[in-house]
Amino acid sequence: MNIIEVRRINRFFGKGDSRFHVLKDINFDINRGDFVAVIGQSGSGKSTLMNILGCLDTPTSGSYRLDGIETSGLSANAHAWVRGRKIGFIFQRYNLLASLNSLDNVALPAIYTGLSHQVRTDRAAELLERLGVADKFRNKPSQLSGGQQQRVSIARALMNGGEIILADEPTGALDSKSGEIVMDILRVLHQSGRTIILVTHNHTIAAHAHRVIELKDGFIVANSRRLPARRIDYQNPVDSFVSPVTFHCDQFIEAFKISIQAITTHKLRSLLTMLGIIIGIASVVSVVALGRGSQERIINNINSMGTNTINIYPGSGFGDRQNARVRTLTVSDSAMLAGLSYLDSSTPNTSVSGLLVYGNQSFTASLSGVGDQFFDVRGLSIELGRFFTRRDIQEVASVVVIDPNTRDKLFPGGENPVGCTIIFRRQPLTIIGVTKSKNNVFDAVDSLSLWAPYTTVMSKITGDYYINSIIVKVNNLVNSQLVEKNLIDLLTIKHDGRKDFFTQNTDSIKKTIEDTTRTMTLLISSIAFISLVVGGIGIMNIMLVSVAERTKEIGVRMAVGAKRFNIMEQFLLEAIVLCLVGGVLGIALSGSFRFFFNAVSKNFTISFSIASIFLALGCSTFIGVLFGFIPAWNAAHLNPIDALAYE
Ligand SMILES: Nc1ncnc2c1ncn2[C@@H]1O[C@H](COP(=O)(O)OP(=O)(O)O)[C@@H](O)[C@H]1O
Ligand SMILES: [Mg+2]
Repeated sequence: MNIIEVRRINRFFGKGDSRFHVLKDINFDINRGDFVAVIGQSGSGKSTLMNILGCLDTPTSGSYRLDGIETSGLSANAHAWVRGRKIGFIFQRYNLLASLNSLDNVALPAIYTGLSHQVRTDRAAELLERLGVADKFRNKPSQLSGGQQQRVSIARALMNGGEIILADEPTGALDSKSGEIVMDILRVLHQSGRTIILVTHNHTIAAHAHRVIELKDGFIVANSRRLPARRIDYQNPVDSFVSPVTFHCDQFIEAFKISIQAITTHKLRSLLTMLGIIIGIASVVSVVALGRGSQERIINNINSMGTNTINIYPGSGFGDRQNARVRTLTVSDSAMLAGLSYLDSSTPNTSVSGLLVYGNQSFTASLSGVGDQFFDVRGLSIELGRFFTRRDIQEVASVVVIDPNTRDKLFPGGENPVGCTIIFRRQPLTIIGVTKSKNNVFDAVDSLSLWAPYTTVMSKITGDYYINSIIVKVNNLVNSQLVEKNLIDLLTIKHDGRKDFFTQNTDSIKKTIEDTTRTMTLLISSIAFISLVVGGIGIMNIMLVSVAERTKEIGVRMAVGAKRFNIMEQFLLEAIVLCLVGGVLGIALSGSFRFFFNAVSKNFTISFSIASIFLALGCSTFIGVLFGFIPAWNAAHLNPIDALAYE
């Protein structure tokens, strides 16, 4: 039975005017177990014919049946399958992969057919031994002579059986002695039942074959048999292939190894390529952490501003120079507001600054007259003693609550201030409590603040009926914007139609702060995003270079049976690994940034989260896939013969 049947094959190269007719109506059959030499001058179309026989190339027209299967309509992957299972190539220039040692070069075809690592290494070792290069297992091609390289490449052709051996000028680059060794090997392979097709332009070499086909200018000009075809039936090795899952894992691991190797071969180049990703990821992680840190900080500040309150001040607005003289708010205004059902409380405030004397020390301090709800509304808590009560207010008690600053100033020795009496504007006041430090950016840190019942301040210190502000606490269930409008209307009516006051709603302050942070985060994030895109373009660029550099390697892998998917996987993985390593370095960079930032900044810390690290790794993988896709796709869709011919 014929293993090869070629009918009216034509092959054109190029298009239009430069269209070139290389193979012209080629017809022949080859018996199973035959040894055929194809001879002809350089340029006569021998290699083109071999590429078609090896399913590396497809004829422009005509039919090619291999082992009974019509190959011309097969997909690229089916061609790869045929190459991997049926055909062993031996090239004039060996085409070994420079980065792999002999053993791995020989084992390469079996990765793509799914032999386990152990089986393929054992078989590769056995083949190398049989071909007389047993001592060169660990040598790379550059450490071998031409003859040894050719024997390694023959071993590779036999890895998956090599039922059909296609040898394109296998002795062309060898000295005569090595050439003889190679021809002896081919003879032995023929005796084992394999079908050998040998291309040569040397008639002495062709004399080894049982049959000679001569090509001239794309035509077959002679087809003569010297000896009958052998009748030994060749048996492909019976292989126990691994399960599909193991198969894919194995291919993944191999692809991963290759990508690591590719990255480490060009360390500096890889590092520079990663730089964009490193900076991008470092900024993404830092921005997220900064965002979280400032968010926490702002939430604290907002909470310390107290629950939802509206402040009412006399005058027309902040910065009005008349404000100090406007005296429109009174205790009765506050009392009226206190009666409203949608307000939790309303307290009048009056503040006054003056000389504070204790023992032989004196300071300038500011005393606020406030209601008993004030502390609650402002989110102040007590550290020592107590706040004043409603009763203190009614009784116009001479009591005062001081802040930690004042305590530190008056009692530097750390004595208990509660119960001591200070003099403020010549009025004795007894300290009943000390507040906790709020550590709030909105509160001045250096001033001395004291709080006394507003009744006390008004009647004993200022002697004034007017107040500086009213703080109302809005019920949580109502809309504070509406309440604000309502308050304005009510107070305007009470003031005989004059709006001689203005309001400030903490709710809108909160909103403003939140909006500002959001805008900032968005701004920095978009810068980080741009940096990531730039980094991704860098990755894409270097991957395109990598694919171009390794075109020959891609061709060799395809020739030994790699499918498009395998090539795609390999380059995609390389891009992803590049990005992931960049991502990890980026995280490390932002970690050190955080360390320095937190060491320098006192009341503001960057807070890292596991989520941001995962986000970073996810981002890197995504960029790897996104920007590695086009180069990987290009690599996978290279034409095998073009890739092999690439120098
Ligand atoms: N990919 C290609 N594109 C264009 N022309 C090609 C291509 N491959 C081969 N040729 C042309 O086809 C002819 C036959 O080439 P080839 O089969 O390599 O010859 P041989 O192996 O017999 O020396 C040559 O003239 C060559 O220039
Ligand atoms: Mg050739």
